[in-house]
Amino acid sequence: MSHPKRYTITAALPYTNGPVHIGHLAGVYVPADIYARFQRLQNKDVAFICGSDEHGVPITIKAKKEGITPQQVVDKYHAIIKNSFEDFGISFDNYSRTSAKVHHDTASQFFRKLYDDGKFVEEVTQQLYDEEAQQFLADRFVIGTCPKCGNEESYGDQCERCGTSHNATDLINPKSAITGSKPVLKETKHWFLPLDQYENWLKDWIIKGHQKDWKTNVYGQCKSWIDDGLRPRAVTRDLDWGIPVPVEGAEGKVLYVWFDAPIGYISSTKEWAERVGKDWEPYWKSEETKLLHFIGKDNIVFHCIIFPSMLKAEGSYILPDNVPANEFLNLEGNKISTSKNWAVWLHEYLEEFPNQQDVLRYVLTANAPETKDNDFTWADFQARNNNELVAIFGNFINRVTVLTHKYYNGVVPEPDNFTTVDEETLTALKAYPHIIANAIEKYRFREAQTELMNVARLGNKYLADEEPWKTIKTDEERTKTVMYVALQIAAALAVLSEPFLPFTSAKLKKMLMVSTALDPTIDWDSVSEKTELLKPGHTIGESELLFSKIEDEQIQQQLAKLEASKKANEAMNKEVTPQKETITFDDFSKLDLRVGTIIEAEKMPKANKLLVLKVDTGLDVRTIVSGIAESFSPEEIIGKKVTVLVNLAPRALRGVESQGMILMTENTEGKLVFVNPEEKEVKNGTTIN
Ligand code: MF3
Ligand code: ZN
Repeated sequence: MSHPKRYTITAALPYTNGPVHIGHLAGVYVPADIYARFQRLQNKDVAFICGSDEHGVPITIKAKKEGITPQQVVDKYHAIIKNSFEDFGISFDNYSRTSAKVHHDTASQFFRKLYDDGKFVEEVTQQLYDEEAQQFLADRFVIGTCPKCGNEESYGDQCERCGTSHNATDLINPKSAITGSKPVLKETKHWFLPLDQYENWLKDWIIKGHQKDWKTNVYGQCKSWIDDGLRPRAVTRDLDWGIPVPVEGAEGKVLYVWFDAPIGYISSTKEWAERVGKDWEPYWKSEETKLLHFIGKDNIVFHCIIFPSMLKAEGSYILPDNVPANEFLNLEGNKISTSKNWAVWLHEYLEEFPNQQDVLRYVLTANAPETKDNDFTWADFQARNNNELVAIFGNFINRVTVLTHKYYNGVVPEPDNFTTVDEETLTALKAYPHIIANAIEKYRFREAQTELMNVARLGNKYLADEEPWKTIKTDEERTKTVMYVALQIAAALAVLSEPFLPFTSAKLKKMLMVSTALDPTIDWDSVSEKTELLKPGHTIGESELLFSKIEDEQIQQQLAKLEASKKANEAMNKEVTPQKETITFDDFSKLDLRVGTIIEAEKMPKANKLLVLKVDTGLDVRTIVSGIAESFSPEEIIGKKVTVLVNLAPRALRGVESQGMILMTENTEGKLVFVNPEEKEVKNGTTIN
């Protein structure tokens, strides 16, 4: 579509089972935001839509784990996520949630329409059932081997390794994620969307229609699914968390989360339209609307095959024009993982780097996983801030504003005749809106941002070559012209940086006193079309620093934080030693375990590992040699309550007779710790059995 009248831009609805991290931002929300802000600056009619995805098994699992209700889980994370997006300037026109009434109504009606039109196949089939939990096992409630790639930890609905979406019954060796037991098959009725019937249509629409304009990673995935052959997909589940299936005889069943969630884009649009007094329908039903879905690669099948088939089945909707999906962002060489706490959480970032949203946005766009998985490192974060934002962008603006105040009291000077260099510089400047726009229109945000930085580079080079700080002493007229040109570049940066660095752009506009609100003619194209963005005689505001240097210590702190996560994970994942051979009760009762107190401790001379202890066992005070000197100093353990095996045959260690053994274990960091009775009142000599 070359000249769409309006844009409906959606960003994947995040699951509300945890906060959002840099991977979400880099893969989906920053590119979507750049695109939406850019189109608005082009004066396009934009609806930028998102919301929380509050149904689905992961939320139920999280609720179980935390001992709270699913509603409490989604309320908590909906608030956190919504805040993070606001904090990072993600400019949604509406951020809704799938527990909202408008969504329940919209999704129910959508299902009902397809049901009434006979678009579903109703079928009683055998589904996996956990007899212990007395529950059907859908989606993430079941784990097993992926039939396609052999990943042993595939979920019931999707394999995270190869991206294949399958039915839970396709899994090899399925296991319940609730009880770990082996599921049985049990009959139940469900409604299926017969994707096989949409195969030819999908071939035409995607394989013939979008080979050229969809990203290769997206097109390739779609083609391989279609080539593999599509099968009917159940769109209902036997679960108690979700939108009830709105037909008779469907008690205890809800809509499949991937059926209701994408309809969330529609309900969020409705909510927005209602609020601002617009009609929602053209945003979803007019051929003059460009519908775009920004997502991560694990969502491709749902947005390119299943949801479009649903829209097609319904009949009155438009289809996405493009689905610019990104690959994944890794962190310091490892896959980002919520459960392993291997992530940079947005809310935590802002506590540690207050008001530096744009730095993160910048770095994530510079490393956006547009065509392949990419890596975020703190060293790169620091380098890009210090060497690019501070040294190029910030430095240029600082020079221009400081000199304007110094030479002209902040008033834009009247230029004299332009030299060839001036003309060339202004011509080069006027080309940038098109250059950047072209890259954005092709969803190449990294390239677009590099071109934005080239505007600042152009400015720096111009100043370095023309040296107004020298000419001010010899040629006042020339200096005025140079400063005038430099100020135009600064103003262009204020406008063109808005999609990428919205906070910086706002600050810069304030510094230069260019306000798109006061002068609505200053839009994206005005950088090319207007003869001047800042007129002679205009007074600029105070000069402030746009960016500041990030110091090594800050980076060290972040790395230390990750290192701590890694240590904790290693300890958690340490293989548990297999159980020893079974013993009889008599065997056990031979052990005489007592509560004791360490009353003296000293290092064993010439031994690194050994401490010589005097322990009050309640029976006597005896000497025990213990191999704990690398974990404890003698002083810190005096007075400690410990568990002692008192009837162990004495043995001599370095000539000292040890009369028993103190029980020890290891904590998650691999450090030795005492197995000690927690109760302070337990008397020495008390038996343990
Ligand atoms: N919640 C899903 C995820 O985080 C995305 C849902 S996108 C929608 O992977 F289309 F379903 F809304
Ligand atoms: Zn797989």
